[in-house]
This record gives sequence, C-alpha cells and structure tokens, in this order.
Amino acid sequence: NLREMVKICCIGAGYVGGPTMAVIALKCPDIQVVVVDISVPRITAWNSDQLPIYEPGLDDVVKQCRGKNLFFSTDVEKHVCEADIVFVSVNTPTKTRGLGAGKAADLTYWESAARMIADVSKSDKIVVEKSTVPVKTAEAIEKILTHNSKGINFQILSNPEFLAEGTAIEDLFKPDRVLIGGRETPGGQKAIQTLKNVYAHWVPEENIITTNLWSAELSKLAANAFLAQRISSVNAMSALCEATGANVSQVAYAVGKDTRIGPKFLNASVGFGGSCFQKDILNLVYICECNGLPEVAEYWKQVIKINDYQKSRFVNRVVASMFNTVSNKKIAILGFAFKKDTGDTRETPAIDVCKGLLGDKACVSIYDPQVTEDQIRRDLTLNKFEWDHPFHVQRPMSPTTVKQVTVVWDAYAATKDAHAICILTEWDEFKTLDYKRIYDNMQKPAFIFDGRNVVDIEKLREIGFIVYSIGKPL
Ligand code: NAD
Ligand code: UGA
Repeated sequence: NLREMVKICCIGAGYVGGPTMAVIALKCPDIQVVVVDISVPRITAWNSDQLPIYEPGLDDVVKQCRGKNLFFSTDVEKHVCEADIVFVSVNTPTKTRGLGAGKAADLTYWESAARMIADVSKSDKIVVEKSTVPVKTAEAIEKILTHNSKGINFQILSNPEFLAEGTAIEDLFKPDRVLIGGRETPGGQKAIQTLKNVYAHWVPEENIITTNLWSAELSKLAANAFLAQRISSVNAMSALCEATGANVSQVAYAVGKDTRIGPKFLNASVGFGGSCFQKDILNLVYICECNGLPEVAEYWKQVIKINDYQKSRFVNRVVASMFNTVSNKKIAILGFAFKKDTGDTRETPAIDVCKGLLGDKACVSIYDPQVTEDQIRRDLTLNKFEWDHPFHVQRPMSPTTVKQVTVVWDAYAATKDAHAICILTEWDEFKTLDYKRIYDNMQKPAFIFDGRNVVDIEKLREIGFIVYSIGKPL
C-alpha cells in the first residue's frame, strides 16, 4: 500500500552515527535514512569514495545503500523536520573548563541539537539518545524539547550504542543486545515499540532489551566502566607479575578459564585508550559525586588511576632500562592508533607515551599503517580532553618538538638507527616483521618494549634484542 516510508534522521555523522545508520539502511530497505552533520568536510567525505573513518566492511555497506535509502547531508534542519525518528549521535566530551571540568560530560552539542529539533519540528517525533550521556539527561532534553513545543509530541528514548571500533560492522550486524529505554507511559511504550520494529528487521527479539530511561542511560556507563575495569585489573596484575616472575598471559588464561569470569578482554597492555572509556568513567565518577556517593566515585576513579599508572610505568621502564637517559636517542614508535584495525587516535596511550619520551628529550620516529602525519602532530599538541571539542584552538608544535618527532610510512624506516622500539598498537603486521633485518640496522644494545605483547620474546632475544613485555619475566 501507499503508506509513507518511515524516515530516520541522525544528527552526527561520526564513528557511531555513520556506521549505525548505514547498517539500519542496509537492513531496512523500507526506511529512508539521512545522516546529517554540521561538518561540511565530514559529509563530503561520506559522499565520496574515501569515507571519513576506516572500519572493516563499512565501505561495502555504504556502497550498497548510498543514494537508495541512505543519504548524507549538511542540510540539518530540513531532514530533522521531515523525520519521524531523530537519532542524536553528537559528541559528548569531557568538560575542559567551568563546573565539573575534567570530569563532567559537556552537553553543549547535545543541547544545541535538541534546541534545533524543537525549533524546526512541525510534526510529532521520537528523539533517540544515541550518544553516551549522563544518567538523567533525557529529563533535561525533554524540558528543552517541550519548552516551546507548539503542540508537538516528542517522545525521548535512550538507545545507547555498544559497538567497538574496528569491529563496528560485525557488532552492528550481530549485537549482543540492543537496549531501548523509554517512559513508562502509553506514549513512551509506543515509541519503544516503533524503535524496536526498526531493529527487529535483523536483531532477534530476545536480544532487544527494553527498560526505563534511567536504566538504559546508566547501563551504557556501567558497561564501559566494567569493561575498562577488567583491563585495569589485568594491568594491575601485570605490574605484580613483573615483580614476581609470574607471566600475565598465563595468569589471565588461568583466571579467564573460570566460566564466571570468562576469557575475553583480559589482555594486559600499555593502557586502554579510545574516545570513551576514560570519558565515560569520569562522567560516572562525577555523577556519583553529585549524588553524594564519594565512596562509589572513588572506586571507579581507581580504574582511571591504574590506567594512567600503566602508561607512566611503561615510559619509566623505557628510560630506566636505557641507562636512565633517552636524550637525543632515536626511539621507534610502532603503532599510534588506540587499537588495531582503526585509524582512530582519540585518547590513544601512544600520545602519553610519546609525550613522556619527548619530555625526556628523546627523538621519536612514528609509524602507524592508518594514521596520518597531520593527525599525529595534532594529537601531540592538544591538551587533555581538547580533541573532542570541535572548535578547540589549534596550537603550533614548539620548534624543538617539531624536530624531535618524525613520522614515517614504514616500520623499517622508523627503526633504522634507533636505540629502541616501542610497540604501542597490536597491528598484525608487527608480528611478522623481519626483526633480524631491523636488529642489524639498529644501534646496540637494541631494545624492544612491547606494550601489546605481540612479539615472540624468545625469538627476539635469540637475535640479540633486549626485550621488555608487559607483565612478562625479564
Ligand atoms: P564523533 O566526534 O565521531 O561524531 C560526532 C559528530 O557530531 C561530529 O561529526 C560533529 O561534527 C557532529 N556534531 C556535533 N554537534 C552537532 C550539531 N549540533 N549538529 C550536527 N552535527 C553535530 O563522535 P562518535 O565517536 O561518533 O561519538 C558520538 C557519541 O557516541 C558520543 O557520545 C560517544 O560517547 C558515543 N559512543 C561512541 C562510540 C565509539 O566507538 N566511538 C561507541 C559507543 C558510543
Ligand atoms: C569500547 C567498548 O568495547 C564498546 O562496547 C563501547 O561501545 C565503546 O567503547 C564506546 O562506548 O565508545 P572501543 O573503545 O572502540 O569500544 O574499543 P575496545 O575494543 O573496547 O578497546 C578499548 C581500549 O582497550 C583499546 O585501547 C584496547 O587496546 C584496550 N584493551 C582492550 C586492552 O588493553 N586489553 C583488552 O583486553 C581489551
């Protein structure tokens, strides 16, 4: 019949908005999906052959639907006005100034999106929180939307996203669960059902969980806190392993065999990075403090503290092993992205490690298969939390730092004449490098500091390297 196509508009064409909407378009040919953004270059890139983010399988999905039922546009107001369901997937960075600076979520972008929705809407809409937000945000959004609603009915839903970068498409195709929170009113329940029908195109019913708004909002922060806590737990153990002769991989394996604990997400590392873990935990800490729960806040703060400790412990290990000075020594940095299979560098531990080494006057030569030189130089000049604020001030790198940093397009160039190698991302290609050739071209003694436990320690020691791996006997 001639029933009009459901129209979805998503505000924010980033790592979440782009892939999630592309998959909805692919799985729901009867729905029109438009992704809008204020960033002209981002939208231009989404409409080109060179998508703005690197994600395995994404190109394929976009190619199949773009121009059919998937569109990318900067005409934000038009598409919001026409939509039945508006997803909001804008950034929710950590505040850099004012009340709650360094902890609280900055909802500036969210609020401006909500005000715009209220201004341009002429028909009833379901507004979906896709961004990760503090619990109770929906209450504020509701106030903004209904403040001048001209009789329009807005239903707010919380539908947090659980995808991980590098596996986004896989995660979206087969999510462990889809979570939808809404008001417990008939209107709220109807909105939940509408959104459920979208996901039901490909997600089994039993994997779609519905809750009240606050449970959905808080579950997202809780899930990220639990995940990060596992990494900080295994990283804390890695320090003890190094002090005692235990091997953290063996410990993690033995512990993870307990089905109640499970084997995943127990890889010791130089520290977790990525755009969300730290931001979301700080946000959680702030909410606990605001709700008069300092003990709970302190508990979660430790997850971040151990992560910071792990990164500085790594830098200290490098400097201490190299006779307490790295001044003017060339150090190769292999990997800059926060994990493999992504070009994303947000909160990557590589930034802290490089800054630490630069502070000790080392010369770093950086190679990452997916990260551009521009991006690396930008990352090394920004202050904490600034990266997620689209309009931050761009500072030039100090002239000495410019000289201390080189970015190359090959692991062999990065390691040539180097005193040491730091592996900071677990790219598969680092497992199969010709380490004999690398060793022959390095200064001696040649050090390898493996921050991701990817190399074969015994083999490298046979070649002649001095090898340090996280949580492994020296
Ligand atoms: P992102 O920075 O990649 O994308 C956000 C986009 O929103 C940007 O392109 C920005 O230009 C746009 N934007 C900001 N304000 C706007 C406005 N008023 N109108 C139109 N566009 C606007 O961020 P992201 O990684 O996609 O994250 C978005 C949200 O999703 C965050 O809250 C994050 O915590 C959450 N999240 C991220 C991930 C992840 O893996 N990156 C996973 C789950 C949840
Ligand atoms: C994470 C969560 O896994 C997603 O579920 C969530 O949706 C997302 O955050 C978000 O809210 O943004 P992501 O940051 O993309 O996804 O990547 P992860 O695979 O979780 O890795 C995060 C960091 O932890 C990386 O630096 C990774 O190298 C590190 N890590 C991960 C470890 O050090 N050890 C591990 O065992 C696992």
